[in-house]
Amino acid sequence: MKPVKVGLLGLGTVGGGTFNVLRRNAGEIARRAGRGIEISHAAAREYDPAGLPGIETVTVSDDAFAVVDDPEIDIVVELIGGYEPARELVLKAIANGKHVVTANKALIATHGNEIFAAAQRQGVMVAFEAAVAGGIPIIKALREGLSANRIRWIAGIINGTGNFILTEMRDKGRDFADVLAEAQRLGYAEADPTFDVEGIDAAHKLAILGSLAFGIPLQFDKVYTEGISHVTREDVGYAEELGYRIKHLGITRRSGAGVELRVHPTLIPERRLIANVDGVMNAVLVNADAVGPTLYYGAGAGSEPTASAGGAALVDVARTLTADPENRVPHLAFQPDSLSDLEILPMEAVETAYYLRLCARDQPGVMAEITRILGDAGISIEAILQKEPQQGEQAVTVILLTRAVREGQMNSAIQNIEALDAIDGEVTRIRVEHLAS
Ligand code: HSE
Repeated sequence: MKPVKVGLLGLGTVGGGTFNVLRRNAGEIARRAGRGIEISHAAAREYDPAGLPGIETVTVSDDAFAVVDDPEIDIVVELIGGYEPARELVLKAIANGKHVVTANKALIATHGNEIFAAAQRQGVMVAFEAAVAGGIPIIKALREGLSANRIRWIAGIINGTGNFILTEMRDKGRDFADVLAEAQRLGYAEADPTFDVEGIDAAHKLAILGSLAFGIPLQFDKVYTEGISHVTREDVGYAEELGYRIKHLGITRRSGAGVELRVHPTLIPERRLIANVDGVMNAVLVNADAVGPTLYYGAGAGSEPTASAGGAALVDVARTLTADPENRVPHLAFQPDSLSDLEILPMEAVETAYYLRLCARDQPGVMAEITRILGDAGISIEAILQKEPQQGEQAVTVILLTRAVREGQMNSAIQNIEALDAIDGEVTRIRVEHLAS
């Protein structure tokens, strides 16, 4: 059979890795796909030919539209990232009847509904395995491997840069900015690294996971998003004393009232496997009714791990090029006419346990006032840790762990605690998840 012709948009960290992996493993890939997969046309503003052996056999220009308009090309692989011109290029490729493979989580999370509808009309596929959790085949697992289950919840470490930063801060006491610069050098971080540290990248990926798990349209704008930039070494240390690790988690859960979509730093018991996922590694824990918990672990960012997922998506598309569009795996796991309109819950309605850190004056009765406010709000305390004041200091640090409570109730309790004369500054709050099956 004739090889499939691929047009590659981008020859940077992920594009270059994809080119090298497809070339190095061409024989194995052809044996799996049933035909060769050949990159014949690429577009890149700049690239380093020395790191891309064989690139001289490919037509390379800086014109991405020439690639999507090339009649020889069967599949366009979009690896330039960002919203525009990626969206325009992908829609043009689809309009030209080409299948698309993309690693672009921002694009899928924000424009996926429009892109999948266009692909559906044209009878082409848009494969996006590399968009979530780098090299971990989590989209394959959710769309196919778990398709007989009712999924209850997913909790994942889905930003490699953020996990790398938290790990280095905890293990080596390194500085936030210094670790971030290293993540950028290693090609893990986004072009705009605030996407990593403020949780936007994780929110893009979580929006995709939520849709695949529950069969709902993509709703990135409804994801509650909090980053790691305010996590202090102090909190990391107190969490450890209490037997927890702080991880930046994306969580999506179906409850009677709707679906939770939230990204925030989270205390997890240190005995959980996912609490021990360190460095740039990602892990996604899926809890489903028939299988129970399953955990998927692997490199969440980087050139070849992401190329591994992109290459697998290419093989999937190549295998099904001749299949009737009705018999392909649906983009969002559920048939497009069976998507549900389950409500996305506002954060105030989400129930979770909390870690609270506050600074209280060292005087009688303060602790009683704090516990009275929590008790009046129906919030049960699980653990209290109070540190002796340092010599000459008038204030003590108090750490509280609470049972699960509605976020709205906790918000008003925190407001009342902060209003006490004996409390200095704001109460630090980090959510706690036990992730028990
Ligand atoms: N910036 C992303 C991360 C790259 O660090 O996880 C992979 O999506």
